[in-house]
Amino acid sequence: MKIKNICCIGAGYVGGPTMAVIAQKCPDIRVTVVDINENRIAAWNDENVEKLPVYEPGLSDIVKEARERNLFFSTDVDSAIDKADMIFISVNTPTKTYGIGKGMAADLKWIELCARQIASIAKDDKIIIEKSTLPVRTAAALRDILDNTGNGVKYQILSNPEFLAEGTAVQDLLNPDRVLIGGDIDTEDGLQAIQSLSEIYERWVPKERILTTNVWSSELSKLTANAFLAQRVSSINAMSELCEKTGADVHEVAQALGMDSRIGSKFLQSSVGFGGSCFQKDILNLVYIAKSFGLNEVADYWEQVIIMNDYQKRRFANNMIQTLFNTVSGKKITLLGWAFKKDTNDTRESAAIYVADHLLNEEAEIVVYDPKVETEQIYSDLDYLKSRSKEANRQSLKVANNPYEACKDAHAIAVLTEWEEFKHYDWEKIYDNMLKPAFVFDGRNLLNMEELIKIGFVPKSVGKPEYDAKSFSGPAIAS
Ligand code: NAD
Ligand code: UDX
Repeated sequence: MKIKNICCIGAGYVGGPTMAVIAQKCPDIRVTVVDINENRIAAWNDENVEKLPVYEPGLSDIVKEARERNLFFSTDVDSAIDKADMIFISVNTPTKTYGIGKGMAADLKWIELCARQIASIAKDDKIIIEKSTLPVRTAAALRDILDNTGNGVKYQILSNPEFLAEGTAVQDLLNPDRVLIGGDIDTEDGLQAIQSLSEIYERWVPKERILTTNVWSSELSKLTANAFLAQRVSSINAMSELCEKTGADVHEVAQALGMDSRIGSKFLQSSVGFGGSCFQKDILNLVYIAKSFGLNEVADYWEQVIIMNDYQKRRFANNMIQTLFNTVSGKKITLLGWAFKKDTNDTRESAAIYVADHLLNEEAEIVVYDPKVETEQIYSDLDYLKSRSKEANRQSLKVANNPYEACKDAHAIAVLTEWEEFKHYDWEKIYDNMLKPAFVFDGRNLLNMEELIKIGFVPKSVGKPEYDAKSFSGPAIAS
């Protein structure tokens, strides 16, 4: 079937950029992205493309090119469903915060709502695509809802998980390592639906990078990919603590590992801990699924990735407190970066939130500077934890819009996001205006330690030796 009309339900970090790229590459297909969040849709339609709700390098140019040509953003979900021959479901699937599976399972209420809405509106056959990350076997639930309406409409359900990473979404979409399409490979209709979706991607993705599998493999591959990636970060972070104790340098260790082509060099950057809306949520979901099948060893194995990550965030904050003479009470501490990684305004599960919360519990006075994150977002992230009143959060944490102001009179600075601009600050000026000793805790191994030491800072990096490794002093080997 030649697709002419696409609807995408969910105009978030995935729906927006993904559909913008499809619209750019397929000018003959009308692409309508719908959302129940009116503010979000208004922002996608804002004439000033700087105000798009998602910040991604290169995205505003693509939106400018395609918007109002064949890319539309709307709150009229029913009408877009009605007109579409292909519907992407790209709504949020966060960790459940209530009831059975609380804190582990994915909350599928928005997915189910979409399915019911499609079932109630559709009058002709449609291809439904799971773009959201979903627990394996969700397609069976979707089919149950869609096939029981009695209106004679035929649906094909495909799984087409999205592998883009935030901050590089446009590049990842334009040049994906692979596109995964799971479908009903045993029937002619299923194969045709896969073909229809494949033809869209083939406009710009080489055919050999488009992989077809059964639906369950596709659904499970997405959870597995995120678990493997997160596991690498937790593995190198586990080694970072051992490096600090032994005189090894985690950067050197990662380089030595990464040159082994079986291991590869990516995702070995030790840090204050991984964040983002996906890794934790998807691993918890994987753990929950494994447990629900009674696979406790499998569940425990993957849960350890999260336990390690929580430990790394706590360890970082505790190290700051210890270094600052065991108290941060009443001390001004500057956090550079709040986003969960550079080049995004997304803060979901950012390590910065947990480090700030930990320091606030110890009565620190915090000032945050982030080049892209809005002040209200920072407060709402903290309020969400419910560790203290909203007023207390606003009293003890301030948001600066200038990094030099943020660092003035600080006892310590912590770099929590690897924003490029942090490297190029006038660190001498920052040093002159700080209290001494001037501590810098680099949670991203971003700054040039030697230069900082020359200026007079006392810098601490994740996974760097605690003492002079070259001197061969320090602890003997454990026996
Ligand atoms: P998001 O929260 O940014 O966007 C989801 C949007 O869906 C929201 O704007 C919400 O208002 C809308 N929505 C929810 N229910 C709706 C309904 N019934 N009708 C219309 N709109 C509705 O989420 P996201 O980051 O774009 O993630 C979406 C999915 O993609 C998740 O399953 C996520 O796991 C997956 N994913 C995310 C990323 C990422 O980097 N963010 C990458 C790959 C996959
Ligand atoms: C991730 C997956 O990479 C992507 O394929 C999937 O579609 C969505 O989830 P994302 O969360 O956007 O993407 O960013 P990613 O680059 O994976 O980083 C996740 C977190 O891990 C960030 O906090 C990042 O700073 C951290 N990280 C990553 C490290 O600490 N070290 C690394 O070496 C890599």
